[in-house]
Amino acid sequence: MTEKIAPTEVAIDPLLAGRWSPRAISNKAVSREQLHSVLEAARWAPSSYNMQPWRFLTFDRNHDEAAFQKAFATLVPFNQGWNANVPVLICVLAKTLTPKGDVNRVAPYDAGAAGLSLTLQAHALGLVAHQMAGFDTNAFREAFSPPDDVEVIAMIALGHHGDPALLDEVLLERENAPRSRAPIGEIAFDGAWGKAFK
Ligand SMILES: Cc1cc2nc3c(=O)[nH]c(=O)nc-3n(C[C@H](O)[C@H](O)[C@H](O)COP(=O)(O)O)c2cc1C
Repeated sequence: MTEKIAPTEVAIDPLLAGRWSPRAISNKAVSREQLHSVLEAARWAPSSYNMQPWRFLTFDRNHDEAAFQKAFATLVPFNQGWNANVPVLICVLAKTLTPKGDVNRVAPYDAGAAGLSLTLQAHALGLVAHQMAGFDTNAFREAFSPPDDVEVIAMIALGHHGDPALLDEVLLERENAPRSRAPIGEIAFDGAWGKAFK
């Protein structure tokens, strides 16, 4: 298994520093217990007014191969390439309306928080979770008919670390590339827009 610990500016918790997004994922099944565990982590994410707008549609190929294939078919070709052996896909969706029928402007924010909790729990279990925007949300909507007020947001590949040597040359290079981020002063400001946090 390739480890890619983030080269952080200051120390952060190892769970956060160690999480990354591998593409070498094996075909080993994820147990229902493991799947339940990552969904449970997502369930306990914080949300505005505790509205819990997140929804998850799980596709476990060892549980329902036909549903898995329908979800897999919505991935863009690039993502289909490295997801060919992945045992589980999870679609993250968000209810965009409050129970009163108002727009919940932070629903995608809350769903993202739940998605990250899921991803971190997967990492804590020694699994791989790799989030994807690269899929056809309209095709997904057609295939699975979520209600109109539910937005289709992201797909997460879930599985066990695989052998990077099985990736093609381009993906192998990405798999081995160091993780990088913009410096803190570019993304965090101190009291005024553009005044770099130091
Ligand atoms: C919302 C979202 C969408 C993403 N979409 C894709 C995708 O379609 N295909 C892919 O290979 N990686 C995708 N990624 C993974 C990112 O490329 C990855 O998180 C980023 O390069 C940082 O790498 P790290 O997660 O290893 O730190 C996505 C990540 C997020 C959070």
